[in-house]
Amino acid sequence: MFNTISSTYDWVNRILSLGQDLRWRKKIARFLPTTPISLLDLATGTADQLIVLCDLCPNITQAIGIDLAEDMLKIGQKKLRGKPYKAQLIKGDAERLPFLDESFDITTISFGIRNVHHVDKALKEMYRVLKPQGKSFILEFSLPSNQPVKQAHLFYIQKLLPKIGGFISKNPEAYTYLNKTIERFPYGEAFLKLMDKEGFKNLTATPFTFGSVTLYEGAKC
Ligand SMILES: C[S@@+](CC[C@H](N)C(=O)[O-])C[C@H]1O[C@@H](n2cnc3c(N)ncnc32)[C@H](O)[C@@H]1O
Repeated sequence: MFNTISSTYDWVNRILSLGQDLRWRKKIARFLPTTPISLLDLATGTADQLIVLCDLCPNITQAIGIDLAEDMLKIGQKKLRGKPYKAQLIKGDAERLPFLDESFDITTISFGIRNVHHVDKALKEMYRVLKPQGKSFILEFSLPSNQPVKQAHLFYIQKLLPKIGGFISKNPEAYTYLNKTIERFPYGEAFLKLMDKEGFKNLTATPFTFGSVTLYEGAKC
């Protein structure tokens, strides 16, 4: 599905999030260490998250993005041309990472964990490839806790988002899929429990924009 919407993916993200998605992505940079770090971005897609972090954090000495969808990666490759840093994009499965244990200081996944088949396997892999004291950051849609805001948000994702996203991408199913997965996916404490189960410590969940998106952080101690 992501191959079929790759050409409009970034543009639709900007429109549907009212320009907020870049702001959410940039916020992860504030949580990263300032020492030299190696970073792996899972389900990297068109590499927006990886690029935002490399642009903001010159202390990232190794940056790799991995995704199953080749067409998404091709767009990411184009965006990386001319950048003053090297970032590698490779085709691969977040549930079976082709890296040795303890390879990275930081692992990230943005709007991707909701899309993998087995969330537990992807979390296990994010943890496995982390070095001791390394950290994982997971940015994902969630639902606002304030009831009137939640109702307004549900109206937006159920009624408007599939129409706008479907019209621009010419793929209405992809954006109906988006709202269904947002509503079904565990968030807040429920998601932290999944991270806890895979061994992550010092867990935090930071909601952005009334809780429509949450940044989860967990460490390997
Ligand atoms: C909503 S996009 C997010 C892309 C990007 N992280 C971003 O922030 O825009 C979800 C991505 O997850 C990828 N994906 C889904 N399952 C995957 C898996 N098992 N391994 C790697 N990538 C996967 C899809 O190909 C798609 O590019």
